[in-house]
Amino acid sequence: MRLSQPSLAVLLLGFGAGLSVSLAGQAARNDGAFQPDMPKTWDEAAIATLEVPLANPAASPRHVSASYYYEIPVRPIYKAYPIYAPGREPAGYWEWLRQQDPVILWDDKGHAPPLATKSDWIEAGEMVFDAAVAFGPAAGFSIDEVRDPAWYREWSVPVTKDGIMPFFGYVVRKRGMVEIGAFGCGTCHTRVMADGAVLKGPQGNFPADRTFAQNLRGASIEIVRRFERLTYAVPWLHPDPMAAADQLSLDGLLAPLEAIPPGVDARRGTSLYFPPQIPDLVGVKYRRYLDHTGLQRNRSIGDLMRYAAINQGEDALASFGGFIPRGGPQFDTLPAPATQTRYSDEQLYALALYVYSLEPPPNPNKFDSRAARGKKIFAREGCAMCHTPPLYTNNKLTPVQGFSPPPGAAADVGVLPVSVGTDPDLALKTRRGTGYYKVPSLRGVWYRGMFGHSGWCATLDDWLDPRRLRSDYVPTGFKPYGKKTFAVKGHPFGLDLSAEDRQALVAFLKTL
Ligand code: HEC
Ligand code: HEC
Repeated sequence: MRLSQPSLAVLLLGFGAGLSVSLAGQAARNDGAFQPDMPKTWDEAAIATLEVPLANPAASPRHVSASYYYEIPVRPIYKAYPIYAPGREPAGYWEWLRQQDPVILWDDKGHAPPLATKSDWIEAGEMVFDAAVAFGPAAGFSIDEVRDPAWYREWSVPVTKDGIMPFFGYVVRKRGMVEIGAFGCGTCHTRVMADGAVLKGPQGNFPADRTFAQNLRGASIEIVRRFERLTYAVPWLHPDPMAAADQLSLDGLLAPLEAIPPGVDARRGTSLYFPPQIPDLVGVKYRRYLDHTGLQRNRSIGDLMRYAAINQGEDALASFGGFIPRGGPQFDTLPAPATQTRYSDEQLYALALYVYSLEPPPNPNKFDSRAARGKKIFAREGCAMCHTPPLYTNNKLTPVQGFSPPPGAAADVGVLPVSVGTDPDLALKTRRGTGYYKVPSLRGVWYRGMFGHSGWCATLDDWLDPRRLRSDYVPTGFKPYGKKTFAVKGHPFGLDLSAEDRQALVAFLKTL
């Protein structure tokens, strides 16, 4: 969109509208009277049974108390404005932004969106989904770069049909000062499709780790070392994969982060060296476990609220066998709650209702005769034992090689006692490492890529290609840092098919 004669009305319309097309299902938008049934986020009894123990149970996180949690101030949600790619910004936009007063959309001090109907709640939840949690220099991205064509070229940053870079936005917290606000859910869970359409909820495709690492190159080595220890240390392991951080150069610290492609993200508590693929949030409601390692149970909407609270901050305050990521110089002292931020229970409930309302985009792949053949192959190859219709997952956890589930785990945790033999490191050597990988749902594989828990394979054909098992294989998705070739081991299912059968199976998977 290019405007030669900006009028405020047109600007407002254009600027407000563009951020993205929401997948929130119209069916779920029920405008009748809605009685919110809002759980308490930090319910200590629910938190105590929330997580599957880590492979080393002594290191399982001990979360902060409810009284500490509720002393943390609530984050105000500021109005965000779209970032346009260079050359696509409407004339006058930047000057207009610089004249805006701060607008708080939602806080616990009197600002709140309307919350009468269910659709009000869902729309308010979308606001939380988009809301930045880091601002200005702390956001990790600079205004100069998002306004520089070179940044888009160098990192292949996707842009929507409307010329918007939709993964984060501009925020005005003080009149005259435009800042970047980033790391809302949308930074990682927004996907720009090949035709420039933008979807919220599916596996994101912003090169977050690459661009973020590039900016950390301007920071001091002490800051980067501390950031990486806080984010990835596993102090109970010998050796801790992060123990070497103190010996590494800036390049040694950041090059692994730069090796992580879009669709994969070394989220806090995972690893620089074996990061997780970003999951699709459409259909989360039906998954019993969250995260590739099945770390968190998903028993109710309250658990999704807890997931968001933990992953947008609280996980840095938990004690992992005495190691508190945000615990001061020695990682051992809880900071004052007033120095942290959290969402309110209302904000988290709205967010969870929004995530629950996400529906898949219309599937262009028809169930034709080839797909029908693929369906038979799916049955014949035994895929449905784990990827059981209609969810295409049995919602179970599978132990990794090198981990024996403790006695009784099968009853307590939904364990299928068969290892699929994929790389065990994410499940054994990280703060999210339970010793298991969950069986992922195959719904929506047509609109995502980067398959396998670290996203080694960019396409389904690659995932079903037997050459991926060879040590001279060059992964089409994530390649561990420093490796030119890498065998994507395990999950041998469907690897010995004829080319025709494989194509039919893929055609079937793409209809799900
Ligand atoms: C910095 C990137 C990033 C941000 C920001 C982010 N996520 Fe995620 N999210 C991830 C990654 C990576 C995973 C996979 C983690 C794993 O498997 O260990 C994930 C996993 C999840 C899951 C688990 C889904 C499943 O099927 O296992 C949910 C639910 C989720 N995110 C919701 C959210 C919400 C809600 C927000 C905002 C409050 C958010 N995420 C913000 C990257 C991000
Ligand atoms: C014994 C259980 C089991 C069987 C049988 C099985 N899978 Fe899987 N599947 C898994 C698990 C577990 C994963 C996750 C592995 C990982 O990433 O570590 C997975 C991952 C996948 C993925 C990647 C999904 C993603 O989002 O990354 C695809 C695609 C897939 N399986 C397809 C199939 C097909 C097709 C068959 C039959 C030919 C099959 N699976 C048979 C358990 C199984």
